[in-house]
Amino acid sequence: MIDDALPVRYSQTTITELMIPAYANFGGKIHGGILLSLMDKAAYACASKHSGTYCVTVTVDNVEFLQPVDVGELVSLHASVNYVGRSSMVVGIRVEALNVKTHAVKHTNSSFFTMVAKDDDNKPTLVPKLILENREDVKRFIEAMRMKEIKRGMREQLDDARSHIEVEHAQEILRHERCILTINSTND
Ligand SMILES: CC(C)(COP(=O)(O)OP(=O)(O)OC[C@H]1O[C@@H](n2cnc3c(N)ncnc32)[C@H](O)[C@@H]1OP(=O)(O)O)[C@@H](O)C(=O)NCCC(=O)NCCS
Repeated sequence: MIDDALPVRYSQTTITELMIPAYANFGGKIHGGILLSLMDKAAYACASKHSGTYCVTVTVDNVEFLQPVDVGELVSLHASVNYVGRSSMVVGIRVEALNVKTHAVKHTNSSFFTMVAKDDDNKPTLVPKLILENREDVKRFIEAMRMKEIKRGMREQLDDARSHIEVEHAQEILRHERCILTINSTND
């Protein structure tokens, strides 16, 4: 038996992890993939706490690494359910890196994970409603609704653009791009 509705704060989750040398690339900075994996963990912890079920990641939006993360920094991932549909939840993740010596905190990125709750038969299952207790909760919920609408519109535009790609006009379309066409004919 799951609760019918839960407040945002019930499932808010923070994971903090020390950035060790094994996480770094040849340039000494932390791999983006390590951060993505930690973000996915935080999103899962938050979504499964809200839904009370096993969850899967469906989409990840707005992944932009704004600043590099260094070995020795403490990375904190703050996760919060921003929006719920029937079985889906949009979890916002804010990533911050703390330099323990200088106390400087870098905001490295904020991203949005869409997670879907699954039942024991691996089918999407209803999640509790979200109780919005303050202006920030309301703002984030509406923002996530708007993002869903924008994404739907973008998907349609992309499908349309894909179905109208004119390879036979490539010479003209690509004339200012930094590419070289080595095929004899684009009409084949
Ligand atoms: C995504 C998935 C759950 C959709 O399952 P489905 O049987 O098609 O179910 P539905 O069409 O009812 O969609 C379920 C929910 O997912 C949402 N959803 C599906 N595709 C989506 C997408 N591309 N973007 C955002 N939400 C999506 C639907 O809107 C719906 O939300 P709602 O219940 O809140 O209205 C299913 O395809 C899946 O399990 N994918 C694999 C996920 C996975 O393995 N992730 C990586 C490892 S964790």
